[in-house]
Amino acid sequence: MSAAKADVPEGLNEEYYQINTDILGSFNKFRPPLDLFLLKEDVVRLKPYYRVGGRLTTEQTEELPDLTREGVIFVSRKDHAVYVKHISYQLDLVLIDKNLHEREIADIFTQALTRRLEEFLDQPVKPVFEKLYTDLMVLTEYLIVDIHRVRALMRRMHKEHTLAGHCFNCGVAGLALYGFIYANNFEEGGVKRTLFDRLTMGLFLHDMGMTKVPKFIVNKPTPLTTDERNKILQHPMHGVEMLAKLDIKYPELEQCVMQHHERLNGSGYPQKRRGDDLSAIGRLCALVDSWCAMTTKRVYAEAMDPQEAARALIADNGYDTSLAQQLQVMLLDRKK
Ligand SMILES: [Fe+2]
Ligand SMILES: [Fe+2]
Repeated sequence: MSAAKADVPEGLNEEYYQINTDILGSFNKFRPPLDLFLLKEDVVRLKPYYRVGGRLTTEQTEELPDLTREGVIFVSRKDHAVYVKHISYQLDLVLIDKNLHEREIADIFTQALTRRLEEFLDQPVKPVFEKLYTDLMVLTEYLIVDIHRVRALMRRMHKEHTLAGHCFNCGVAGLALYGFIYANNFEEGGVKRTLFDRLTMGLFLHDMGMTKVPKFIVNKPTPLTTDERNKILQHPMHGVEMLAKLDIKYPELEQCVMQHHERLNGSGYPQKRRGDDLSAIGRLCALVDSWCAMTTKRVYAEAMDPQEAARALIADNGYDTSLAQQLQVMLLDRKK
């Protein structure tokens, strides 16, 4: 139907965008949360159609879907924050809105996924997991088409440490690194969706067991007692128990949860696995997890420079050196 759509006058897209019928349909019918504008084609000008605080008339609600289909209903990019928030509650809308810029989509994903992670980590039960899962699947659908899109998300990683923020950061950085290493496979359509979905879940959920560690221990700025440290050391096990309780059985997810603190030289925990005993996904998650922790401000340490952190990981024989080197190259490449 796009042929019937009104031509968007030049320059208009900078300040306004055509709204999509599905998104319009997701708003309150009489009181949309943002201003609407109507394109007067004869004078090629936008005219206010509805203002927030008012109410659409019944006639307007009847004609609005047709006008939207014709492409003459616009919203202002000034209302971006309202729009982002709205779509973030119904994330699948990002896949159908062709008017959003990549950076706007990245804002929406960041807001939606961080909130879903907060909700799940706060209340790790199946119905809350399902919502997070649905949104993660929207993300994988969006990224598998063009893995380079993950870069806009990387620029939105959280700077301050929170558990949900850290999980988001690891998810994004892990997918970016995976995408960087396997860029050709993505381009040739050779990346299996199932694996990509499960890897995504693993990276975003690797620390779910931390919800069982009392908050005062996690946020303690002074050195931990042996007892407190033991509680932290159990979080991979807690994570695996939570997966069993939630009846989630994806090996890639379990590998991330269980192995992200293991080290190739056997110095990690909880099982002191070493070398080949660690899965490729577990190694990736371990590297990304440490890099994200090092480059974020925490209660006990300032944030490290991303490159410096990558160099430290290359030099550490607990990590997969070639993966750490790829991370370094990716970061250099990102600066270009
Ligand atoms: Fe952890
Ligand atoms: Fe972590």
